[in-house]
Amino acid sequence: MSLLALLKGRRGASGFGYASTAEEVTAGLDLSGRTILVTGVTSGLGRETARVLALRGAHVIGTGRSADSAREILATFGPNTTAVACELSEPASVRAAAATVTALGVPLDAVILNAGIMALPRLERKYGYELQFFTNHIGHFILMQGLQDSLTPGARVVALSSTAHHGAPRGGIEFDNLTGEKGYGAWRAYGQAKFANLLFAKELARRFEGTGRTANAVHPGVIITNLARHLNPVMKFGFGVASVVMCKTVEQGAATQCYVAVHPGVARISGQYFDDCNVAAPRADAADAATARKLWEVSEAIAARFA
Ligand SMILES: NC(=O)c1ccc[n+]([C@@H]2O[C@H](COP(=O)([O-])OP(=O)(O)OC[C@H]3O[C@@H](n4cnc5c(N)ncnc54)[C@H](OP(=O)(O)O)[C@@H]3O)[C@@H](O)[C@H]2O)c1
Repeated sequence: MSLLALLKGRRGASGFGYASTAEEVTAGLDLSGRTILVTGVTSGLGRETARVLALRGAHVIGTGRSADSAREILATFGPNTTAVACELSEPASVRAAAATVTALGVPLDAVILNAGIMALPRLERKYGYELQFFTNHIGHFILMQGLQDSLTPGARVVALSSTAHHGAPRGGIEFDNLTGEKGYGAWRAYGQAKFANLLFAKELARRFEGTGRTANAVHPGVIITNLARHLNPVMKFGFGVASVVMCKTVEQGAATQCYVAVHPGVARISGQYFDDCNVAAPRADAADAATARKLWEVSEAIAARFA
């Protein structure tokens, strides 16, 4: 048996592993009566996550860049779904999304911050900020600001990070280069955004201490989805090779976020990074509480610009 086959068949302490699917990790769970918000349900992992959570009986609130795009997908998962417009790179849209969810008056048992973009080949900015950082991190940060009061006492927040966080600059976040003007690399910027997602979960977990709520970050695996849409041909080739070697199916890729969001075994775990449905070790400097706190404060200041 090859090393890869062994890796793919391996299961960790949770009883799940690389090859587990979202359906497997939620098998036997009755999620009726629970409401779970998932960002980015129009494609890839978000779509599969929404499908499986709805299959298990949860009321799924799914966001898309437009309500119509989310509704079109969610309608195929049954009647217990709600579509909300949330364009993450537009703070006004994000705040409107949070207000719409709050107005529903339905407490959220889990929030899965799934939507994202990857490795834009050239520097792009929104409101002066590098677009991957602004979309993947600041967009979700503003969303969570607006959803704070909608969380149940035991709510779980799951942030999609990535093993690509290893490609972030030294220290994780270049606070003096959030515009990208002092230098830009597609993977470096994606790595930084995913590092930010990880730090966000760490700091949120710290702020949740003593409340019963949890926050964790996950790496879903490497999965061929629309995420690769921005890559140039050379980058696409590299991603394709990595995917062929390590590739998970979308069903497997959605497993870790579903596991962390709803499995009883994770109810009391907070501030961790999960890979293959098990707690894993992120890059060493991702444990730096001071950086996580600084990112939070910088993010608050950025968000305040759009209040
Ligand atoms: N696939 C992988 O190998 C992999 C590995 C590690 C981490 N991840 C992470 O997993 C998450 C899901 O990725 P995926 O592979 O499922 O990608 P995907 O198929 O491209 O789906 C991304 C989702 O995010 C939405 N989105 C993108 N930009 C947005 C914006 N500005 N505002 C609102 N929504 C936006 C997309 O909406 P549209 O359909 O309208 O574009 C789509 O619903 C991402 O956070 C990614 O970083 C993926």
